[in-house]
This record gives sequence, C-alpha cells and structure tokens, in this order.
Amino acid sequence: MQAKGREEIMDAHWFDKARYGMFIHWGLYALMGGVYQGQEVPYGAEWIMKNARIPLEEYRRLMERFAAENFDADEIVRNAKRWGMEYLVFTAKHHDGFCMYHSKVSDYNITNTPFGRDVVKELAEACHKYGLVFCTYYSQMQDWADPNGWGNDWDFSPDREKDFEKYFRDKVKPQVKELLTGYGPIGMMWFDTPYTMPKELCLELRDYVKELQPDCLVSGRVGYGLGDFREIPDNETPVLSFHKPWETPTTMNNTWGYSERDHEWKSAETIQHKLVTIVQKGGHLLLNIGPDGTGAVPEGSSKVLEEVGAWMQKNGESIYACEAVPDYSYQLRFGQITLHGQTLYLHVFNYPRFPHEIIVVDMPVKVKSVQLLTTGEPLRFIQSYEIARNEYRFRVILPETCPDPIDTVVKVELEGPLCFQPLQ
Ligand code: GLC
Repeated sequence: MQAKGREEIMDAHWFDKARYGMFIHWGLYALMGGVYQGQEVPYGAEWIMKNARIPLEEYRRLMERFAAENFDADEIVRNAKRWGMEYLVFTAKHHDGFCMYHSKVSDYNITNTPFGRDVVKELAEACHKYGLVFCTYYSQMQDWADPNGWGNDWDFSPDREKDFEKYFRDKVKPQVKELLTGYGPIGMMWFDTPYTMPKELCLELRDYVKELQPDCLVSGRVGYGLGDFREIPDNETPVLSFHKPWETPTTMNNTWGYSERDHEWKSAETIQHKLVTIVQKGGHLLLNIGPDGTGAVPEGSSKVLEEVGAWMQKNGESIYACEAVPDYSYQLRFGQITLHGQTLYLHVFNYPRFPHEIIVVDMPVKVKSVQLLTTGEPLRFIQSYEIARNEYRFRVILPETCPDPIDTVVKVELEGPLCFQPLQ
C-alpha cells in the first residue's frame, strides 16, 4: 500500500469537523467474555482481571489461546467508514498492561501469541486506506502486569512501595514513543484513568506527545485539564453546553470489552438521537465495539451500527462539521436542532400526528428556504412575529406521510447567523 502523507490523511483541525468515531476495546480479556470460573463478573468485561482478582500468571496464559482467527482490520475499518464514522480509537494498551502491538519495551505483547500480528499496524494501515483518522488508547497509570504500575494489589503486595516514576520512564514514555513513531500520523493519544498521577508527570506526558507529533491531540483524561479537549464521563450526555471541545465515550451495551452474556444493545434510535443531541451541543460521540476472543465484532452491535450507518449515508450532512447551537431556552417538542454555518437542521424525532406541523419559537432570523434533507423536496413554512406578545414563530408544514419515524431531517437555509431571543 502506498503510504499517504499526513495532509492526505488529516489536517490539523480534523477534530473540529469529525463528530462520530469508533472506539475499539480489544485485548486478552475478550477471550473470557466477562465470565470467570462460570460466573459473570460485574462491571466492564475489560476489567475482569482486576474485578475477579485473577493472578497475573493465570491471566497471562490467555496469550497461549489468542489466535484471533476472525480478526480482519480491513473489514472493521471499511465498515466503520460505511457506518459514517470519521475516526477510530484503538486500545493499544489497556489497564491489564497487555500490548496489542509489537512493543520492544515489553514482551507481554500480541506478537508473542499464536495470532502473532500487530493489530495497531493493521488498523493504522486500514484507516489510512479508507480515510479515517487513526488514534490510540493508552492506559498511562493503571497496569496490572507491572509491579510499579497502578492497580494490581493481589499479585504485588500493597505494602511494597511502588516506584511509579520508574514505571513512567521505563515503560510509559518508551511505549508512547513506539506508538507515535512507528505507525504514521496518530490523530490523538487517548489516555485514561490518571487517578493519582502527579501533575508534573501528566504535563511531561502531554508535552512528550506534542514533541513527537505536534498535531496529535491529547485526550482530557491525561489529567488536570491538560488535554486538548474534555473527556466527559463514560456514557453521559450533557444537558448544558461546554465552552471547550468535548467527547463522550459510549458503549453499545453495558461494557467496553466483549461480554458473552450482555446482549442489551442500545437501539439505532437511541444512538441516533444521542448522536444528534451530542452534536447539537458541540460534542463528539465515540461509540464502542468490543470484538470477541476470535476478533469477530458481535452481531448485536454491527446490526445496529448498520442501521445508524444507513441513516448517516442519507443524513450525514446534518451531523458532519456541525457546530454547537447557541443556547436555546426551550425544549423543542419535535426533537433537536443541529447547525452548520447558516444552515439549520431540524431533527424530527416525534413526527406530529395532526396537523403535520413543527414550530420553533423565539428565532428572529429570517428563513430563506426549507426542504426535506433526503429528497430536497421544498416544504411550506410561515414566519410570524406578534408584537404584543413579542413572540416569533417559525412553522414548517411537513409531508403527510412521515419519511423517517426515527429522525426526519428538515434543512433550513437562514439569511443570517442563527440567534434566539433570550428569555426576559
Ligand atoms: C473507563 C474504564 C475503561 C474504559 C474507559 C472508556 O475509564 O476504566 O475500562 O476503557 O472508561 O471510556
């Protein structure tokens, strides 16, 4: 494959535009599927080693069974592209300390399994091929395989004093360097769980990333607000807007790593509405898949992503490159709004039964045209202002038959920048 230059893959502002990314949690834990000695272990399946206090020696032996006969990076990334995703974050090293790439710093890595291939390399190449921005997740404080990393108090006695600084210098920085020098441009280093890491080390880590790849973003969970954007708590959707870029990592069921028992998949409707709501508030949705021990993506999740993808193919314009909508004082009865420059997208989640009409109040800016996004069919609209009540009403008459019960998008061209009348 012809290697592409950085500019062909991403510009420095890619994250301002990208709204929807794929998170992949895949590691040795996938072989256990959230079950230890016949019992389902609660909380994230990728935490099974810690939550079930599995001895390192025993957990390590999963390496012998890691054959991943169904793993296909090209297929995953091709699908991500088709599903409308613009970037991908992969767990190069999660809290268990196992590296999913060829690390020269630690032999606790994927090249020493029967599978033997470098997953970071394969995913990076596929991302470059399909035009997704490739990013790596790296657990910088927790490492349950290292006596000086944080978290394993069942193999390594909690009484023994940890030399975290040694771990940071001998493992974290060299591994971050491997990731940032061996796989082409990396869109972001996705750090996680900084816990009690001293601020100076967080700062040093952030600066180190910038030194190695100046355009690489650093996730908010590097700690102390030092990241380039805010990482909001897992699975949350804010009600208010943030005044800094932000992202929300989200699961499709209730775990990040593969669980053989959790089939509680969010519906396409839930995900689409969440995506629109996040985009409306200027955020980014990082949606997770957890391939199983063979490397296959669970059907329950791909089925839903396929549905969301079909909607994105037709309505992506109302998501991509959108910016935060200015604060609005009302809960819209029909759904949500997204905004790109002077184009407004009305997302109709609740199609009005009768009359087929939606209303936006307190929007003084003049409207040029209104149409259905998917077909371009022009829609009738009425703008009015009632002086005595000081009330603006913008009404759109929708087609009688609902084009899309989950989210019908109406495209509105404005004559000026969007503004709302504040509540007085
Ligand atoms: C949490 C968990 C982790 C998961 C992450 C995803 O911090 O520790 O297992 O990777 O959230 O956002």
